[in-house]
Amino acid sequence: MAIRFDSFYAREFIKENDLKGLVPQVASAHEMLHAHAGLGNDFLGWLTLPTDYDKAEFARIKAAAAKIRQDSDVLVVIGIGGSYLGARAAIEFIKGQHYNALRGDAPEIYFAGNSISGAALHDIMALCKGKRVSVNIISKSGTTTEPAVAFRVLRSYLEQQYGEKEAASRIYCTTDRARGTLKQLADEKGYECFVIPDDVGGRFSVLTAVGLLPIAAAGIDIDRLMAGAAAAAEDYCDPDPAKNDCYAYAALRNAFYRKGKSVELLVSYEPRFTMMAEWFKQLFGESEGKDHKGLFPASVIFSTDLHSMGQFIQDGSRIMFETVVAFDHSDADITVEEEQQNGDGLNFLAGKPLSYINQKAFEGTVLAHTDGGVPNLVIHVEKPDEENLGRLIYFFEKACAISGYMLGVNPFDQPGVESYKKNMFALLGKPGYEAQKAELEKRLGQA
Ligand code: PA5
Repeated sequence: MAIRFDSFYAREFIKENDLKGLVPQVASAHEMLHAHAGLGNDFLGWLTLPTDYDKAEFARIKAAAAKIRQDSDVLVVIGIGGSYLGARAAIEFIKGQHYNALRGDAPEIYFAGNSISGAALHDIMALCKGKRVSVNIISKSGTTTEPAVAFRVLRSYLEQQYGEKEAASRIYCTTDRARGTLKQLADEKGYECFVIPDDVGGRFSVLTAVGLLPIAAAGIDIDRLMAGAAAAAEDYCDPDPAKNDCYAYAALRNAFYRKGKSVELLVSYEPRFTMMAEWFKQLFGESEGKDHKGLFPASVIFSTDLHSMGQFIQDGSRIMFETVVAFDHSDADITVEEEQQNGDGLNFLAGKPLSYINQKAFEGTVLAHTDGGVPNLVIHVEKPDEENLGRLIYFFEKACAISGYMLGVNPFDQPGVESYKKNMFALLGKPGYEAQKAELEKRLGQA
């Protein structure tokens, strides 16, 4: 198996009956999902997306990516939350964290519009200077403030550099099929548009144009990515968690939640996984964190964070379990050389590849943390390639849906995200929010 779930290091924390008791609930969550009978059932497009996608649009994505690779030194991807995390995570998973420095003949790719920081946007504008630039603006609603503001800045820059007509040929717009301010603007200006299907929510959208265009522009094989996801869709459809790794993972995280754990710590020993963990945190956090329920998703990269968070994990409040994403094979390695002087005392490692030393770090840590009362689940990934990335994306998406239904929440909405937006709009004086403004300013002590 290219992906294998292993609960060996959790065995002392979970009794067989804990899991047996959950089997009917997993089956019922499975039934709700596949019969489209559960909450949020109009957002299940992601379930069949790996095979049931718009092939004509897929071909247009590849053509646009080829054009960007040929006529651009820089691609700025504008989006926030589900409209950027998946693409960034996928690019770093395949190409590593230093993608922009080591990219070969692919364009540099920068992500903008995922904060309201003037300094961050200023840096991206500086990185664009003197280079051939294209922009991919991604927003399902087409109205989100962060990407809209960044797009206004980038659009004006491109129009000044190239004139309105050529700027339009360098702007790619990924949004709703028909609705929203962005779609309206794109139609007026003649930008090439890609569709975010109505039935796919932001955090489940990485295998639509949202993720696929930037991923393909980075030179990653999106056919293999979709093939991996399609294989996972086939592998993870047995309702019995004993025969379905994805459901076994969903059931066990639910079992830990019931036993009082409140944090799931996603762990990897590969820095290239940092953004995948950010994507995971949005996926599970936004899907499960509602009605005052849900595991808080957190993440660390080891051994790096053993030197910052290791003390707490080993010895602090017993609130968490760990889910380790472990790579069985690395695509690049370095072996420690023998030195005659052995001044640094490292000859006991001579001839050993770093992947071996990293594996021993994992084994030592898993034993220490389980000794400290922290259960460990492990998701083994054979190697970091496109197929396995597709598999892993689908594994987590489906586990999240099953887990959310087991928790009794709607895993496909995000009502809580709106509260800050309303307040921010009122405080900024957006038309229509006048009544709230005075009241909020009073609460802030500004009236
Ligand atoms: O998962 C989600 O729905 C959110 O994270 C959205 O992706 C995010 O808020 C951006 O929204 P939009 O694509 O409408 O700009």
